Amino acid sequence: MKIGIHDLEVATTHYVLDLDTLAERHGIDPKKFSIGLGQDAFSMPAPDEDIVTMAAEAADTLLARHDVSKIRQVLFATESSVDQSKAAGVYLHELLGLPANVRSVELKQACYSGTAALQMAVNAIARTPEEQILVITSDVARYALDTGGEPTQGAGAVAMLVTANPNLVEIEPGSGFHTSDVNDFWRPNDSTTPYVDGQLSLDAYLTATTAAWDDLAARRDLSIDDVDKFLHHQPFTKMARKQLAALAEHTGHELSDELIEESMSYNRALGNTYTASLYFALTAQLHNNADLAGKRLGFFSYGSGAVAEFFTGVVQENYRDHIYPEHVAKQLENRVELTYDEYRTLHSDFAATSETYTTQPTTHAPFRLSGVTEFQRRYEAQ
Ligand code: HMG
Repeated sequence: MKIGIHDLEVATTHYVLDLDTLAERHGIDPKKFSIGLGQDAFSMPAPDEDIVTMAAEAADTLLARHDVSKIRQVLFATESSVDQSKAAGVYLHELLGLPANVRSVELKQACYSGTAALQMAVNAIARTPEEQILVITSDVARYALDTGGEPTQGAGAVAMLVTANPNLVEIEPGSGFHTSDVNDFWRPNDSTTPYVDGQLSLDAYLTATTAAWDDLAARRDLSIDDVDKFLHHQPFTKMARKQLAALAEHTGHELSDELIEESMSYNRALGNTYTASLYFALTAQLHNNADLAGKRLGFFSYGSGAVAEFFTGVVQENYRDHIYPEHVAKQLENRVELTYDEYRTLHSDFAATSETYTTQPTTHAPFRLSGVTEFQRRYEAQ
């Protein structure tokens, strides 16, 4: 029985900052961002947006095409959680009218946990193939102002429906894993921005993903040449190029950038979307390439701290009949461009926790955070 990603949808935020604007005000050559990091812009939430509103929008568009009564689990992966106790997915039950007879839980391991959620869903469907599972990856990557990580901020969500006999990608059994205790990037409970050791994070990413490939190669009869396209977690798109070059050197195989080129267009425009980044790479590859039927995709998932997984999936025959590139184009076009001063103010005003009624700039978004009263987050459809 084939099990995998049956359908997916994405969402991002109301605002965008063009990296040329940041470069100009910081006196940096814009090519450092566009070529050196491979990034053009990043999404930024309005005061009435967060991981829940993005997730609700992506899932709402997705579920309009499906029977929600078949959903048995909502697995919500994020590292920019809005509560230390309540799972973000529970808010979706009210907002989207999901059935009550559903397991709903939140998962965390930096940018990696979306992959854990996907694999948990695949394993559960193997036991009960008639059921469906909603997997959500949603994050706001927010670094401190005037730091090295600042141009790699971003925000976005990908919602995926995992089922038997999927329309998009069958996830193949057998992953390679790597876990090691590294302090490359972390966010303590009392900090709204992460701490990061930039160079260590690059090294940790390359070491862990290469080790994950080695683990898979030791367990499955799979050569690097059996993979037709590679997809990466893309904190910035240049990272995918760095990983592919490291993998080529490690395996002694020539691996051209054509193996990843089509996977980067959305992440270039969104910035780092943490848990969602790998699945925006998948979305871009499916949307930008008309010749993927029957082809094997290799997924490199990485979360700082650090956990990596390499796994594979096979694109299904009629996948082109089940993709909606126009929805992503609309998400990107609808974003309102910030000036530098507006960006700085928005960044500083982040994270209201007590009594707050938010302003309502999000004219295009179907859901919003209307405020926080008695320390409870209030969401509404609009
Ligand atoms: P930096 O010091 O700003 O940049 O830090 P740099 O000086 O290293 O330059 C970056 C690149 O631009 C270099 O290219 C330069 O040569 C090039 P490279 O040598 O690496 O190929 N460059 C130029 N290119 C063209 N024209 C120019 C020019 N000038 C320079 N004029 C760093 C970069 C990524 C460290 C920083 O942005 C950062 O700390 N980012 C956050 C951490 C991060 O993204 N790490 C990635 C791996 S860890 C990860 O993926 C996990 C994560 O997503 C979190 C999670 O799991 O939850 C972050």
